[in-house]
Amino acid sequence: MTWLITGGAGYIGAHVARAMTGAGERVVALDDLSAGVPARLPAEVPLVRGSALDGELLRKVLAEHAVTGVVHLAARKQVAESVAQPTRYYRENVGGLATLLDAVADAGIGRFLFSSSAAVYGNPDVGLITEDTPCAPVNPYGETKLAGEWLVRAAGQAHGIATVCLRYFNVAGAAAPELADTGVFNIVPMVFDRLTRDEAPRIFGDDYPTPDGTCVRDYIHVADLAEAHLAAAGRLSAPGAAGDLTLNIGRGEGVSVREMVDVIGEVTGDRRPPVVEARRPGDAPVSVAAAERAARELGWTARRGVGEMVESAWSGWRLRHGG
Ligand SMILES: NC(=O)c1ccc[n+]([C@@H]2O[C@H](COP(=O)([O-])OP(=O)(O)OC[C@H]3O[C@@H](n4cnc5c(N)ncnc54)[C@H](O)[C@@H]3O)[C@@H](O)[C@H]2O)c1
Repeated sequence: MTWLITGGAGYIGAHVARAMTGAGERVVALDDLSAGVPARLPAEVPLVRGSALDGELLRKVLAEHAVTGVVHLAARKQVAESVAQPTRYYRENVGGLATLLDAVADAGIGRFLFSSSAAVYGNPDVGLITEDTPCAPVNPYGETKLAGEWLVRAAGQAHGIATVCLRYFNVAGAAAPELADTGVFNIVPMVFDRLTRDEAPRIFGDDYPTPDGTCVRDYIHVADLAEAHLAAAGRLSAPGAAGDLTLNIGRGEGVSVREMVDVIGEVTGDRRPPVVEARRPGDAPVSVAAAERAARELGWTARRGVGEMVESAWSGWRLRHGG
């Protein structure tokens, strides 16, 4: 088997590449380096610099590396940017996926794994989000992920490709400091950023209907997420693999923003009290995965806790920012 990982030089892609090569799989990465860092990739993984929108290049890579399965992570992922530039998000996230699926179908490749997101659910008013919870994304980013899932399933059916869509919840942490997320879009790096600037962490809203009034999320360590990809790839490679599978990838455990800020305070040793600001529009009070289906279908469950996520992310932050 040889797996093509699109977005392989990205935060999650590099972790998936590392998990797959660690398990003895052959991997080739494709990345346009709009956000990727080539040095994150294991030395044995060739990196093709180019876009998922470039059909000719995709066909060449699939043929030259005799690719037998694809893990598609390449995408734009910033919610606010997607609100400001919806056509770009549809063009790159959905258009890139359509171009890739054409090339995959033409090459006769029978395995496809798609990076989806809890953003497909929007803000459902439920305790635990199951895969059957209705999808109602609230921004163009989430829409492109939902449209992407539809496209993956339809193309899988039309061309006999076995597919898996993984809906990641809130990804955090790093398997090694040099693999850490370089973006400052999620709570953990956002709080690190505030502390590094000698400012108090911010909490957006403490009057939600939750135990401590702050929003509750399901955080998953990126190393656990990478192992979920490995398990899904194994399932796609099993003899007779067919059909489509859609799975939540989370821990099934809620952690409030205030709890997360406390853990960050313990890990960094900077326990200054957070300042509470107004709610941000569009934040769901609670977003926690029902994680049973992934456990059942993949034989996989997350093993790492929030402390490990924050400690490893902090090591990565200090590597880049000192301190
Ligand atoms: N990080 C999260 O919390 C999270 C949660 C849910 C889903 N996801 C999804 O996981 C995937 C990976 O996210 P990430 O956090 O690693 O982001 P990232 O930005 O670090 O990685 C994306 C990678 O794709 C590359 N890329 C972007 N557009 C491309 C294109 N058209 N052609 C080739 N390469 C391209 C970027 O250079 C980057 O290396 C994305 O699809 C994202 O939507 C991430």
